[in-house]
Amino acid sequence: MHNALKDKKIILGVSGGIAAFKAVSVASRLVKKGCTVNTIMTKNAEQFVRPLTFETLTNRPCIISTFERNGKFDVEHVSLAKSADAFVIVPATANVIAKIAHGIADDMLTSTFLACNCKKIIFPAMNTGMFENVATKENINILISRGMEVIDPVDGVLACGDIGKGRLMEVDDVIKSIENILVKDMDLDGKNVLVTAGATEEPIDPVRFLTNRSSGKMGYAIADAAAKRGANVTLISGRATIAPPPGMRVEFAFSAKDMYDKVLEKAETADICILAAAVADYRPKTISKHKIKKTDQDRALELVRTPDILKSLGEQKIKNRFLCGFSMETEDLIENSKAKLISKKADMIIANNINDKGAGFCVDTNKASIITKDNVVKLPLMSKKKLADVIIDNIVALIE
Ligand code: C5P
Repeated sequence: MHNALKDKKIILGVSGGIAAFKAVSVASRLVKKGCTVNTIMTKNAEQFVRPLTFETLTNRPCIISTFERNGKFDVEHVSLAKSADAFVIVPATANVIAKIAHGIADDMLTSTFLACNCKKIIFPAMNTGMFENVATKENINILISRGMEVIDPVDGVLACGDIGKGRLMEVDDVIKSIENILVKDMDLDGKNVLVTAGATEEPIDPVRFLTNRSSGKMGYAIADAAAKRGANVTLISGRATIAPPPGMRVEFAFSAKDMYDKVLEKAETADICILAAAVADYRPKTISKHKIKKTDQDRALELVRTPDILKSLGEQKIKNRFLCGFSMETEDLIENSKAKLISKKADMIIANNINDKGAGFCVDTNKASIITKDNVVKLPLMSKKKLADVIIDNIVALIE
């Protein structure tokens, strides 16, 4: 089996229950499997195990949860949160579950958890009465409804002497559960995915160009999500406001023609093409060699069509190559997007209306509909990162 844990960056959250002693072996096993493990303990967890134990086993500083308002430290925990592949809480007490379900961030563990956008895996362990209390059950349901993985505790004799559900499973099983979840997330393993992103620029002269407001965030989020799920990603990017994600091949292409040439070349070996770039439909007919001098007269700019990259790929009709395009409209979104699906011979169109609050350019959220030959799925407002995963879930379901 693919070692889903190799080179993974894991944040191990340890909260204050007797099962915290098992977290020590979990940390050690994760390190042996090739993970980088950063441990964050709650203050109560320190009553059960010492931070030094984790530091020695993981060779990394163990963050403890005295909430120091130290600027540098705050920034560090946010950057830790940004780079993590998975946040695992072993054990998760009823108290920590309640806090994370409600967005409470009053210590380092819960603050980092809130800042994290990665896979979250929670291992509750507590007394049976606490586990079965409706408050805990509802809190766990909130976590599940937000896409987190909650691994139920097992039956057995509990530290308090009660017999019932609430024991943390054996360390072997904790590791297997984490592995299984991360393997499932490698569903693009070995697939070649080509993504375009950002805005194209069509030069008028050496100084000026025609462009649009695309930030590249949506396309970059898709490229990142595909890479995290095991794909070999080639990202062909126009101008963007953020840095490209790590772990992929990146080529910049600024004009529509440049992007067309690069995409057509790279698409030959692609299994999935997702064209999220905002490509200019027109370019100036001529590009002046010198800066155009102003005069007192008005001027007209003659524009000619650029190649339609998505349509060109669709017309190639390559079997088993999945083609997904984007559609941004300000009116009749679904109808126009359905027409685009057909005219460009795409397998999927992600339609977003820039009039929707929170959707469109520059922001970190989007509201989209996924349009395929047989289906229209209207999605709620969500982060572009989350939407990227949902788009890939839908593509994976269609290519399987
Ligand atoms: O036709 P429209 O521009 O609305 O289609 C949008 C989709 O087509 C996007 O996926 C965009 O990346 C792609 N497109 C393209 N080449 C163009 C214009 C748009 O690939 N010249």
